[in-house]
Amino acid sequence: MSAAQLLNPKAESRRRGEALRVNISAGEGLQDVLSSNLGPTGTLKMLVDGAGGIKLTKDGSVLLKEMQIQNPTAVMIARAATAQDDICGDGTTSVVLMVGELLKQADRYISEGLHPRVLTDGYELAKTEALKFLDDFKLERSVDRELLLSVARTSLSTKINPSIVDAVLAIFQPPAIPDLHMIEIMTMQHRSAADTQLIRGLALDHGARHPDMPKDVKNAFILSLNVSLEYEKSEINSGFYYNSAEQREKLVESERRFVDEKLRKIVELKKEVCGIDGKKGFVIVNQKGIDPLSLDVLVKNGIFALRRAKRRNMERLQLICGGTAQNSVDDLSPKDLGWAGHVYEHQLGEEKYTFIEEVKDPKSVTILIKGPNSHTIAQIKDAVRDGLRSVFNMIVDQSVVPGGGAYQVACAARLNSDEFRKEVKGKAKWGVQAFADALLVIPKTLAANSGHDVQDCRKPPRL
Ligand SMILES: Nc1ncnc2c1ncn2[C@@H]1O[C@H](COP(=O)(O)OP(=O)(O)OP(=O)(O)O)[C@@H](O)[C@H]1O
Ligand SMILES: [Mg+2]
Repeated sequence: MSAAQLLNPKAESRRRGEALRVNISAGEGLQDVLSSNLGPTGTLKMLVDGAGGIKLTKDGSVLLKEMQIQNPTAVMIARAATAQDDICGDGTTSVVLMVGELLKQADRYISEGLHPRVLTDGYELAKTEALKFLDDFKLERSVDRELLLSVARTSLSTKINPSIVDAVLAIFQPPAIPDLHMIEIMTMQHRSAADTQLIRGLALDHGARHPDMPKDVKNAFILSLNVSLEYEKSEINSGFYYNSAEQREKLVESERRFVDEKLRKIVELKKEVCGIDGKKGFVIVNQKGIDPLSLDVLVKNGIFALRRAKRRNMERLQLICGGTAQNSVDDLSPKDLGWAGHVYEHQLGEEKYTFIEEVKDPKSVTILIKGPNSHTIAQIKDAVRDGLRSVFNMIVDQSVVPGGGAYQVACAARLNSDEFRKEVKGKAKWGVQAFADALLVIPKTLAANSGHDVQDCRKPPRL
């Protein structure tokens, strides 16, 4: 009985060698699952949940999140991949393969009697050298659209959508680092994935609530409001007594007067900026409600109004169209208004969408993802996220590294070079050798997944 079991008879305990084996096979297991996903010719995996819902993906981070992993070592590896996803947004599959292969190579040497401590010393040295080598290997480039397109292409592998690069470039105002939160991702179940597009403006997932409102407004002044335009019940309980129908009418009238007063001010502003010229439009985006009577007034004055907009969209609206959101209608002035060239409503079955486009200088844009069904949309969404992050990383780092396993092959050659071997003392050399061999897993898997000969990745042995 082991010491741990003496303390707690239910504890599971494994002997040293066995524990090592379990951990290594967990790493290899995870590697096995993900290796067929790597690269542009990697396969998709279909995950089926308990309710029969399906999810198709080849994104490592999504797979790791969805898979129910029990083994603690595998969970740790999955966490490393999640960390990679948080920092770079891409390369999760590669991390899992690399960790699995490092364990596999270690196993080879350990089974020949090398102590794990010696091996980890070698791994440390090799890691430091690999990072140093990366600094020499990377190519410094300035930001240019063509290069960013190829970065996105490598990251997205399947179909490239230029909208990703254009979205980042649209919000990029050098020298500031682009803020990816300024790219809103919206989904719409409609047509095919190829219709995914960039909107240099805002898309809202609701439409005007009155059938007679103008649905297509050109040259629009935009008023963003956070003012309730509806008759509100008083917050404390109160009673009203009236003796006749006229008295009741009066009561209702005086209640309405508040709202009517607010509407009057808005309509006045509209008249001031639009004049009698029919070519200019007026759009209200309100965060609060607008009741049917108020909608009627707005319709009569030819105003396109949206109610209950999300707070996030209100913040974006100011960045996109300019103007400032108003919390009261008391001192409205034309300088608080934003502007957009084209505001229109689009109806898809039951759902209504409103697009605000042709703005002057958008500081925030929207990527509208379209797809015929929800799993295609989810798949594109994951890919777009990866793509955005890699474009962002290129802009921030101002450098690129050739893909397709080029770095790994070059780095393995560097670690195996006589020059570097001289620097490493003693048995740690074996660790360095194992690290160099493990790096080759990326080019090997890429080759295997696309039907090439895996052995072509390494130098032939000297005969
Ligand atoms: N056209 C290509 N030819 C050769 N290799 C490519 C090509 N495009 C991409 N690659 C390589 O494919 C690998 C990336 O594959 P993939 O995007 O499937 O996995 P990942 O980035 O590691 O993980 P994930 O994207 O799932 O987070 C990189 O090593 C990249 O260099
Ligand atoms: Mg990738």
